[in-house]
Amino acid sequence: MKRRNMKAIVFVCILSLVFATLVGCSSQTSTNGGSNNGSSSNESSTSGGSSSGTVDVGIVLPTKDEPRWIQDETRFNEALKDTDYSVEVLFSQGSSANEKQNVESLITKGIKVLIICPHDGDAAAAAAEAAKAEGITVIAYDRLITGTDAVDYYVTFDSVAVGEAQGQYLIDKAEGKGNPLYLYAGAASDNNAFLFFEGAWNVLQPKIADGTFVIKNSSEAVALQDKATLTRDEMSKIIGQVTTNWDFNEAKNKAEAHLTAASKEDKGDVFILAPNDGTARSIADTFAADPDVTSYVITGQDAEKASIQYIIDGKQTMTVFKDVRTLVKDSIDMAVSILEGKTPETTGSYNNKAIDVPAKQTEVIVVEQSNVKSALIDSGYYDASEFTNLN
Ligand code: GAL
Repeated sequence: MKRRNMKAIVFVCILSLVFATLVGCSSQTSTNGGSNNGSSSNESSTSGGSSSGTVDVGIVLPTKDEPRWIQDETRFNEALKDTDYSVEVLFSQGSSANEKQNVESLITKGIKVLIICPHDGDAAAAAAEAAKAEGITVIAYDRLITGTDAVDYYVTFDSVAVGEAQGQYLIDKAEGKGNPLYLYAGAASDNNAFLFFEGAWNVLQPKIADGTFVIKNSSEAVALQDKATLTRDEMSKIIGQVTTNWDFNEAKNKAEAHLTAASKEDKGDVFILAPNDGTARSIADTFAADPDVTSYVITGQDAEKASIQYIIDGKQTMTVFKDVRTLVKDSIDMAVSILEGKTPETTGSYNNKAIDVPAKQTEVIVVEQSNVKSALIDSGYYDASEFTNLN
């Protein structure tokens, strides 16, 4: 009780100093290293936040193998370096079993709030339920946990808008009719993959129906191309065919197979819906290596450093910038409200197949060569020195 009161006072103090994201004055942040098992080999640093050795907030992220989640870890650590609350960050390394173990280990450390980005939305229900059973508040971070009522809040970007931005970008770059279109999607175990695809389909479908684009790599998408709105099952069929599983190698292999199957006429000036930056780079490299591809426009997402360099170099056309600083801040603010017994601010809700989960949603920004500087450098997200040939 006493400790909580002190924390509240420190929180108010620091807020008044306009200390951007957090509260307090000491930290205990531990990071689970990139080992494959993801639930051992903790590197931890402690500077006295919690004298009892317990952890207040547990953060579980899906994998260190994608730069996107390293970005989130970095931003969490930046935001948390001065917190009075003790926090531990663990990675699940693409395994729901590791994820469950991570949550169980955090439960034994006494966390009161769990911030979790699931590897697999359905499978993570068990971990969320285990936490909930201990009275822990569960915040789904970026990806929704599905099929359970054990999720209290969801902090997210506007994922349908991400897909719409990607689809609209392709439309804006296309001229005339008959433009070859190659569709790729994220992992079917990730609810976001459906939201991204739904957004892209919303805007692309009318342009497929009017002949602006011709789908070249998915018979399921061709079979559904006259339907403006797809059910989840219909999207599953398409995603099942063109999934990258968020995996760079799978994306590359699929793109190679598609190009091998395609005729010269199916290539030329092509348009590619790539769901995120990691897969976009592999798909772009594969298309660039095909002598029958004269030019390509390819989407992305996450503003990963490597993709920003690709955009500067003209190898990737766009990305959707999701300012992770905002997501991190929103989830920490939410956790702090909960720790202080307040009701966190939400702006809407997302159905997770079981309940409507109160959500806080953040907008996204399209980044291409022309606005790399204004969107990412001037905003302090990246430093100009991290890139070459940036004008
Ligand atoms: C999504 C996430 C994206 C992307 C992808 C692959 O859920 O919203 O930003 O990184 O996973 O990890």
